Amino acid sequence: MRIVVIGLGTVGRSFCRLLQDRRKELLSKYGLDPRIVSASDTGGIATDENGLDVAQILKLKESGMSVAEIPQKGSKGKSGKDAIESVEAEVVVEATPTNMVSGEPALTHLETSIKTRKHVITANKGPLALAYPALTELASYNNVSLKFSAAVGGGTPVLEFGRRCLKADKILGIKGILNGTTNYILTEMDTRGISFEDALKEAKDLGYAEADPTLDVQGFDSGAKLVIIANMLLDMDLTLKDLSIQGITSVSASDITAAKENGSALKLVASIEGKASVSPIEIKRSDPMCVSGVLNSVKFISEFAGEQVIIGKGAGGLETASAILRDLLDIRQSMRI
Ligand code: NDP
Ligand code: HSE
Repeated sequence: MRIVVIGLGTVGRSFCRLLQDRRKELLSKYGLDPRIVSASDTGGIATDENGLDVAQILKLKESGMSVAEIPQKGSKGKSGKDAIESVEAEVVVEATPTNMVSGEPALTHLETSIKTRKHVITANKGPLALAYPALTELASYNNVSLKFSAAVGGGTPVLEFGRRCLKADKILGIKGILNGTTNYILTEMDTRGISFEDALKEAKDLGYAEADPTLDVQGFDSGAKLVIIANMLLDMDLTLKDLSIQGITSVSASDITAAKENGSALKLVASIEGKASVSPIEIKRSDPMCVSGVLNSVKFISEFAGEQVIIGKGAGGLETASAILRDLLDIRQSMRI
C-alpha cells in the first residue's frame, strides 16, 4: 500500500517508526505491506515510488533537517498539496498542526486527497471541527474513506467505542476529559505542587501539547473534540461557536487545594448534557472519570446501557500513531487487495 505522509513531527514520525518496527507483523497478520512514497514537512517534500527509507527520514528529522534535503528525492519549496496531486498512492496520512480558525493547511490536504480519490487519515482536529459535514459528504461522493480515530482520545478508541459498541443503543449525552495536556498540568500541579508554567513545559517536552499550546490551555482542543463527537455520534450539527468554552489559564494553586479538601480534583471537562460546554470543574476522586496525567476519560450516557466510561492515553506520539495505524488497517480490510 502506497502512503503519502504530510507532517513529520511527534505524530508523523511516530507513525513512520511504527510502520517500520511492525513491518513483518503487519504483512503476516494483515497482509499490509506499507510503502511511504512521499513525505512532507515545512521545508518541502521527498518522493520515491519504490518507498522512502524510513530510518533516513527519522534520522534527518531528529537532527532538525527537512526531508527536502534527501539527495535525489527531496524537492525544496514543494508543498503537501503538490505531493498529494503528483504522487500515485492509495492513502494520505495528514499530521500537520491543528488550526482552528481556517483549518489550514490540513483542510486543503484533506480536500485534495479526497478529490484525487485517495483514502485519507488525519489526526488533525481543525478541519473536522470546522467542516465535518462537507468533508464527509465529499468523501462519500468520491467513494473514499476519511478516517480520524486519532483526532479524539489519542490512542484511545473513543469514537469507535461510541460508533461500534453503542450502535444498537442511543447516546443521550457525553462528559469527558478530552485533553491530555491540561489533565497533565492539573495533575502535576496537584500531586507535585509545580507551577502551571513548569507543568506546561513538561507537557510540551513529552509531545502532548499542540504546536500552539493556547489551543490546549484555553479549552479549544477539548471543544473541537466535543464538536467531532457531537456531530459523529449524536447526529448534531455543532461548530465551535455553539460551545461555551473556558480553559484552565485562570486556575490557581489554591483552587486545586480547595478541590482536594473536598475529596475532589479539578479537571477540564467537556460535556453535552443539554448544552455543550468546556470548563474546569471539580470531580470526586472516587468517580471513574477522575483520571490522572495524560489519561483521557469519556463517560457515555446511553438509553439502555446507562453510563459507561472509556479511559486511556489521550496524547503522545506512539499512542496517536497506533490510532492512525488502526484506521489504516480498516482501510486495508475494506480494499481487499
Ligand atoms: P508537531 O508540531 O510535532 O509536528 C507538525 C509537523 O507538521 C512538523 O513536521 C511540521 O514540519 C509539519 N508541518 C507544518 N506545517 C506544514 C505544512 N504546511 N506542510 C507540511 N508539513 C507541515 O505536531 P504533532 O505531531 O504533535 O501533531 C500533529 C497533528 O496531530 C496535530 O493536528 C495535532 O492536533 C494532532 N494530534 C497530536 C497528538 C499528540 O499527542 N501530539 C495527539 C492527537 C492528535 P517541520 O518538521 O518542518 O516543522
Ligand atoms: N494536544 C492534545 C492533547 C493532543 O493534549 O490532548 C491530543 O489530541
